[in-house]
Amino acid sequence: MADGLRLSYDRGLMTMTSDFESLERIRRDTPGVESVLHFNNAGSALPPEIVVETVTGHIRREATIGGYEAADEASDRLEAVYASLARLLGAEADQIAVVENATRAWDMAVYGYPFERGDRVLTVRAEYVSNVIALLQLERRLGIEVVLIDDDKNGQIDLAHLERELEIGAAMVAMTHAPTNGGLINPAETVGQLCAQYGAFYVLDACQSVGQVPVDVEGIGCDVLSGTGRKYLRGPRGTGFLFAGPRALERIEPPFLDLHAADWVDDRRYEIRADARRFENWEANYAGKLGLGAAVDYALDVGIEAGSTRLRGLGESLRSQLSALDGVSVHDKGVARGGIVTFAVDTVDSEDVKAELSADAMNVSTSPASHARFDLPHRGLPTLVRASVHYYNTESEVDRFVEAVAQIRAGKTPST
Ligand SMILES: Cc1ncc(COP(=O)(O)O)c(C=O)c1O
Repeated sequence: MADGLRLSYDRGLMTMTSDFESLERIRRDTPGVESVLHFNNAGSALPPEIVVETVTGHIRREATIGGYEAADEASDRLEAVYASLARLLGAEADQIAVVENATRAWDMAVYGYPFERGDRVLTVRAEYVSNVIALLQLERRLGIEVVLIDDDKNGQIDLAHLERELEIGAAMVAMTHAPTNGGLINPAETVGQLCAQYGAFYVLDACQSVGQVPVDVEGIGCDVLSGTGRKYLRGPRGTGFLFAGPRALERIEPPFLDLHAADWVDDRRYEIRADARRFENWEANYAGKLGLGAAVDYALDVGIEAGSTRLRGLGESLRSQLSALDGVSVHDKGVARGGIVTFAVDTVDSEDVKAELSADAMNVSTSPASHARFDLPHRGLPTLVRASVHYYNTESEVDRFVEAVAQIRAGKTPST
């Protein structure tokens, strides 16, 4: 497995070099890099081989000895997944639930929150589309009020506006740390301090930030945090997790209960379990859960800080090189920025850019306005191309990618 990435800098981030040995090893651990230039890590990253082996190995055991028996056999390793996630997030193992994705994790907490009619929920322009849809449903269903906090001039959450609204009163602040559609990283710690000062319950969507930047629930001061396996953690698809802090465990009843979340203690009575696993289902994807644990262990082994520094450096390099191209505009906001780079080519539709890159084995995705209505339409932006880099990408991949975009702008297909 990989050593910590050792990075050295010659004139700042733009001329970042990396320890060749460990990068080489990390790329050897990542067979996908042989087939594609993968800049769709914000969609689903290429997993390291250990994740693939862990998932397929468990499925093979299920096929060989039986599904329940394979889970029994792996019980210690399954338990260790909670400890790994807790270590990653600076939490306790009993504050972690492993669920099928980040959306369900977030939903279990927010749909279970004991709102009262008239409660105000403050959210942000960067909030993830599914969270906004859920909040709007709760607004209609429960009579809560969803209040949008504006961006400041740098494009991150306007902290002064947040404080004014907190002074008026708010039951909850629901914020996305790093949005799906750009490089912004919102100042989660400062928001946590304000929530603590005004007593608001703090729900952080860290789906794009866990694995991309260090995330520590103590330091941030969130009550709830949701995340996913397949993005910057490089885990399997169909895995996600929830951190539920003391106030969350005290206040939130899951919207659904089953025999795993609660005990049927008497004919007419059940008792909800005390720990965060109340937010899980009994039936689960055990291979995926083990694969998630392997991904977290791998990320911790690489080093979150070192990986983050490297991927953010690659992101800045990509941004500046794309910005220098004729007819290409980069649209990432924020003071602190990560590895997600969004851009448009003036003469080519973003979906066509994606298709042309894909024909040349370069993976990106697109961010449509309908996935970021509080943001992209307000900036007058169309669907953007989203290129998201990870620490296992290379400087030469960035150069090749920029050249391909230049070719597309010039009306040539990249491979000609
Ligand atoms: C910021 C953010 N939050 C939540 C999600 C949803 O994650 P999942 O698909 O694992 O439910 C995404 C997915 O792209 C996201 O970017």
